Amino acid sequence: MIVYLNGQYIPRRQAFIDVDDRGFLFADGIYEVVHSYEGHLFQIDAHLQRMEHGLRSLRIAADDLGSLLRSVREVAERLLVENDLTSGEATVYIQITRGSAPRTHAFPPAGTPPTVYVAATRYVPQRTQAEEGIAVILVPDTRWVRCDIKSVALLPNVLARQRAIEAGVADAVFVRDGVALEGTSSNFFGVFDGKVVTAPKTNYILPGITRQVVLGLCADLGVPVREAPILEHQLDEAEELFLTSTIMEIRPIVRLNGRPVGTGAPGPVTRRIQKAFRELVSDFKGGASV
Ligand code: PDD
Repeated sequence: MIVYLNGQYIPRRQAFIDVDDRGFLFADGIYEVVHSYEGHLFQIDAHLQRMEHGLRSLRIAADDLGSLLRSVREVAERLLVENDLTSGEATVYIQITRGSAPRTHAFPPAGTPPTVYVAATRYVPQRTQAEEGIAVILVPDTRWVRCDIKSVALLPNVLARQRAIEAGVADAVFVRDGVALEGTSSNFFGVFDGKVVTAPKTNYILPGITRQVVLGLCADLGVPVREAPILEHQLDEAEELFLTSTIMEIRPIVRLNGRPVGTGAPGPVTRRIQKAFRELVSDFKGGASV
């Protein structure tokens, strides 16, 4: 496997990060995950825009963002070719940190280059979960208040996912102040009275690319949408629930905290959105720009 690290295309086994890297010492960096279908990077412009938002918010590489983002796109495309991933599905992982410098909290001297790491790997979709749905639990949201930044500081997400796995379910949904916000690595949607509801874009959630695509599909399908908080105490009334992410696409939730959601099977609105998403992806694979 060939990866990209700081300007070089090298075998994965030869890719090493300096122990003074601020990503290692302070989680001082951001990441992205992009889904490739038949060698095409789905929603790449939106991913690069979100990456720009993250880098600007953290003031990483602020003086040369344009060329950094352009090079990331080229690197991602080249890695798909180098690793023979131009057919089927793959994920591209991109991480940018503030670079390497002796440990002190304040920024390193101007001119310290950011660390840029990109890797592409084969992705085998978990169709069973997409078909049959998953069980999730609710967990308290112990994250910081800049969840809109795709920071590599993912410890609360890691602990919440592990708690879910140990509870025998697939994932966890974060609840803050009585509001069910998002999954550990996905956005959270409900269907109430036939309307699709998802948390509004605030600093308390990641503005998911798949979330945005799904909102667009709902508009196309004539499914009414409300971007509004989903309150924990209303969850019993949800007709359907689902998660969205670049990796999992649209995943129905059929059990929440041990209780069935709706009929206990993926519902009709989720199914319609899944179908529309598959069609969008298959147009995209055919070369249409989405
Ligand atoms: N996670 N919310 C959180 C906390 C996430 O980590 C993610 C994505 C999403 C969905 O965003 P998008 O639709 O742009 O993938 C929402 C990635 C896939 C990950 O950490 O692997």
